[in-house]
Amino acid sequence: MSKEVHVKNIGLRGVTVADSAISFIDGEQGVLIYRGYRIEDLADHSTFMETAYLLLHGSLPTREEVAGFSEQVRAARELPDFLYACMKRWPVTAHPMDVLQAAVPLLAMADGQGEALDRDRYLANSIGLIAKLPTITAAWHRIRHGQEPLAPDDSLDHAANFLWMLQGEKPHPETAHDLDVCLILHADHTFNASTFAAREVVSTRASIYAGVTAALGALSGSLHGGANTRVMQMLLELEDEDDVAAWVHARLAQGKKVMGFGHAIYKTGDPRAAYLKKMGKRLGDHSGQNWFTLSQQVEDATLAEFRAKGKTTILPNVDFMSAPVYHMMGIPLDVMTPIFAFSRVAGWCSHIIEEQFADAQGKPALYRPKAEYVGEYCGLMGCEYSPPEERG
Ligand code: ACO
Repeated sequence: MSKEVHVKNIGLRGVTVADSAISFIDGEQGVLIYRGYRIEDLADHSTFMETAYLLLHGSLPTREEVAGFSEQVRAARELPDFLYACMKRWPVTAHPMDVLQAAVPLLAMADGQGEALDRDRYLANSIGLIAKLPTITAAWHRIRHGQEPLAPDDSLDHAANFLWMLQGEKPHPETAHDLDVCLILHADHTFNASTFAAREVVSTRASIYAGVTAALGALSGSLHGGANTRVMQMLLELEDEDDVAAWVHARLAQGKKVMGFGHAIYKTGDPRAAYLKKMGKRLGDHSGQNWFTLSQQVEDATLAEFRAKGKTTILPNVDFMSAPVYHMMGIPLDVMTPIFAFSRVAGWCSHIIEEQFADAQGKPALYRPKAEYVGEYCGLMGCEYSPPEERG
């Protein structure tokens, strides 16, 4: 008897595991659509509040609906007192992504919900998470620097309020608008690793908080949302480098990756990177900072290296462009991935709700893929057990 041999699909590439009506990607054309709308249109005309509503509810809100939604988010920004007290005891070296991952279960404790919940409760929880993740991020940044967290400012919109709580100054309206656009561009992305993690966890009927905590963990990795920080670290390392092309050549020759390049789905260009590139150029031109120019030197050198090897599908991704953009906004390195998180939480929550409340046709199922067993095998009776003293 031999063990069963499965058809393998490493990393689940190209495997369809569920129906979803939330977002759509055409990787060949470089198109990303949320609920039918192209991200460029949303970035040009919408707001993050409106886009979050669109993702959660499936259609663009009326003026009254978006006002009501924004008000609910605004009213939910403040954190429970015990969460501030906990954060003040955490090691100041803790990474903000670890803090988010630790804090979300505390929000679940504060919520104290049971298991059987209806859709309205999930929507309310989603609003709470969208509202509170920026507050946690900003509060932690201040606490770790020995400062008191700043209370949310009700007069400020979502992105502006975050910058206020983080930096202690009311941001320039253009900066707040740029950050709001970044939040729109990162809000959803079909079954990426973090969204899949969220859906997989809640397929067990675990809570929305458990799903978002898992998603935060997945997003933190350097191949996913953690790449933006690594891109900025690379640019800082290159600040005084005379020969960027030689640096890139040496890095690739050592078999290392250039962070911010490549994508599992986009093979002709990431539309979010294209949008952010224009923003980066504008910010660079206005501020006189060199980060956009430097990023373009890295891009040119990296693409030339890839072209020389016949690799034409490894192109700059969203993280390559968001890093210099956030840096020029004064965002600390390790706060870049949390910003990704508190944008993507709108998508995660939408997917969690879709997973939990799928209609009869798309009936949700407990995710349960298979692995091909490549370990020790002595047949179905198993290997003969020997006591420790008899093992050689
Ligand atoms: N630098 C150098 N080489 C690369 C890079 C890169 N950034 N990306 C891919 N390659 C090379 C690989 O080494 C591999 O080469 P080989 O065929 O000679 O072995 C080939 O391209 C295919 O690489 P995979 O990792 O298999 O490609 P895939 O499309 O599966 O990976 C991924 C996508 C993981 C994003 C990869 O491009 C990568 O590691 N990029 C750097 C990290 C990064 O920027 N992540 C952010 C992604 S966007 C996001 O999550 C929001």
